[in-house]
This record gives sequence, structure tokens and C-alpha cells, in this order.
Amino acid sequence: ITINWDIESAEKAGYDHFMLKEIMEEPDVVKNSSIICNDEIKELAKALHEYNRIYIVAMGTSLHASMIAEYWFSKLNKLVIACDSSEFLIKGIVDKNTLVIGITQSGETYDTVKAIKYAKEKGAKTATIVNVLGSTATREADITIMMGSGIEISVCATKTYLSQLMILYRLFIEYGEIIGKDMSLYRNELKNIPEYIKEVISEKERINIKNIAKKLTAKNYIFISKGINLPNALEGALKFKEITYLHAEGMSSGFLKHGTISLIDENMDTIALVPPSNSNLFNSVVSNIEEIKARNGKVVGISPVDIDMVDYLIKIPNVLEEVSPFVYAPACQLLAYYKAVELGRDVDKPRGLAKSVTVE
Ligand code: G6P
Repeated sequence: ITINWDIESAEKAGYDHFMLKEIMEEPDVVKNSSIICNDEIKELAKALHEYNRIYIVAMGTSLHASMIAEYWFSKLNKLVIACDSSEFLIKGIVDKNTLVIGITQSGETYDTVKAIKYAKEKGAKTATIVNVLGSTATREADITIMMGSGIEISVCATKTYLSQLMILYRLFIEYGEIIGKDMSLYRNELKNIPEYIKEVISEKERINIKNIAKKLTAKNYIFISKGINLPNALEGALKFKEITYLHAEGMSSGFLKHGTISLIDENMDTIALVPPSNSNLFNSVVSNIEEIKARNGKVVGISPVDIDMVDYLIKIPNVLEEVSPFVYAPACQLLAYYKAVELGRDVDKPRGLAKSVTVE
């Protein structure tokens, strides 16, 4: 494995913040993640086939990537459970028939490393997906897959999230092929994904997102979606709150009705990650938007199609549902970024947060 980290890549390269620089690197980073560690990915896909109880343990942004993997594998009838590492020792059922995959950008997150160690003690097969070679997680796990993102300086994870998604998407393809499915549709998309991301982060879209960020004046935000982009709604809310210091929560559009909708008024804005109109989930999310509008809530739609009812639209490319997590994520990251910049926040070093949490 060769990883090229140099001093130059640790500089801002003309951008105001590392966060924006790292978002702009995403097409290249994802391309790199689409080709590295082929043998290791094949080995892990084989283990996915051999083991019948599979957990992906992770924290923060890495957990959201793991949750998207649940949706990918469900399409292949494979149960994979994404689990908050800090809860794993309490509810994980682990024995020698279990495969535990720890996803951690830093390779040092206390709870994730602890979960991998625990799995090993119980005789489980272990693997880790990391960005730092030689990190603690790599020393503990049986299989190591490098994400190949290059160093990420900004505290909030952006490009490493996209890398994690790419590694998991490749695992989905490899596993599908092992069980005899035709995965060529998905494999063909590997080369297109960086191009889709380029569209989302193009100058035109960045200007649009920056203008939308300015118009959002509420103190509270809800991020909703349904299906494979629900974890992106959770991630969108996490990113937004951690750097803007404004309250944001993510949830499924279905869950909204079970309590949170009572909070909707002109002081609560909603960001809706709307599935494509040909998705059977489209109408469901749109009906939730109608309810929000009826309560005077402002709505930003992130969608490949024009939706009249939303106040502002972030248009993303119309791609396969299985590929769509790669296009919703950068849009959410840019919205958080521009809102935080407008509010004068310390974007790269938000208060009270660390790049890697090495304590319980
Ligand atoms: C911290 C960081 C997050 C990150 C999480 C997990 O909370 O601020 O950006 O997602 O740790 O980190 P890891 O290195 O395990 O992916």
C-alpha cells in the first residue's frame, strides 16, 4: 500500500478553510478510493459471505457511512448491522461466527478501537477501514482497508466520509458478484461518481448553496429523508450543528410525525433530501414537505428534480438510487460550510470538538 501524504497537501491551497479545500478534493479522493486495496476489499467481501452475523461499528460521521452500507447490503438480502461503537459492548452479540468491521478515519477513536478489541477477544473475525496507516485499529484488526483520502485537517470529516462510502460501495459490488448477482450497472458507475460529485460542488452550485445559506435565518433545523439517504440526513444535521452551533436534528421523514412536527413553525427550517421522482419514496417525502409548509416552515429541497413547493432548491444530478449517497453528501457539507462561514464560526476548529476522540 502506498499513500502519498506531503506537506503541500497540508496547506490550504488558496481556499479560506481546510474544510472547503477538502470538499473540493472529493472527486479526486473518491477516484483514489475506487481503485486502492483491491485484494483487501475482495478478502473482506469473502468474509462477508462466510460470516452470518455482521456488525459495522463506528462513531460520528463514520457511523453514518456504516448506516448507508446497511441499505446497500439489504438490496442483496444481506443483513449488516451498523452499530454505535460505544453501545457495542452492551448489545453486540459476538462469537466466532461474527464479523466485526470497525470504520474509523483516524484509527484511534476510543470506542471503535475498544469494540474491535472486544470482538477479537470473543473470537470474532475483525476488519477495519481507516485513513491512517499504522493506527491502533490497524494493529488490532485481521484485515485493514485503507480509505486513501489523504490527510484531513478540518475537524469535521468531509472527504473521508466520501472515501468510506466508496470503500463500502465497492464491498457491496464485490459481495454481490460473489453471490452471483450482475453488478455491472453498479461497477460501471465507479468511474462516473467523481464526475457526479464535480457537478454538486461546481462554482455555480456553490454560489447557489451560499445564497441559500444566507436566507436561512432560523435557529433550529431538521434534516429529513427516506431510504438510503436517511443516514445522509443524519450526517447533514451533524455537520450543520457542529460548525454553525445552531440546533439541527436529522430523522426519517416518517419519524417526523411522531413528535417533532409539533416544533415546526417559522423558527424551524427543514432541509429535505428528496429522492428522485421515479423513486417510490418520492411521494412520501413530498407529503411531509406539504405538512411542513402548512405549518409555515421554510424548506430547502435537495433533489434531482424541480419541486415547486420548496422555498429553495439545491439541484443534484439524477443518478441511480444506489449511487445517490455520493451526491447528497457534498450538498449538505457545503450548506453547513457556507452557513458557518456567514456566522463567522471557526469552521476548521469548532469549539469543544476534536478530530479524534481517544477517551471514553
Ligand atoms: C470525532 C470527529 C468526527 C468523526 C468521529 C469519528 O467526533 O469530530 O468528525 O466522525 O470522531 O472519528 P473516526 O476517526 O473514528 O472516524
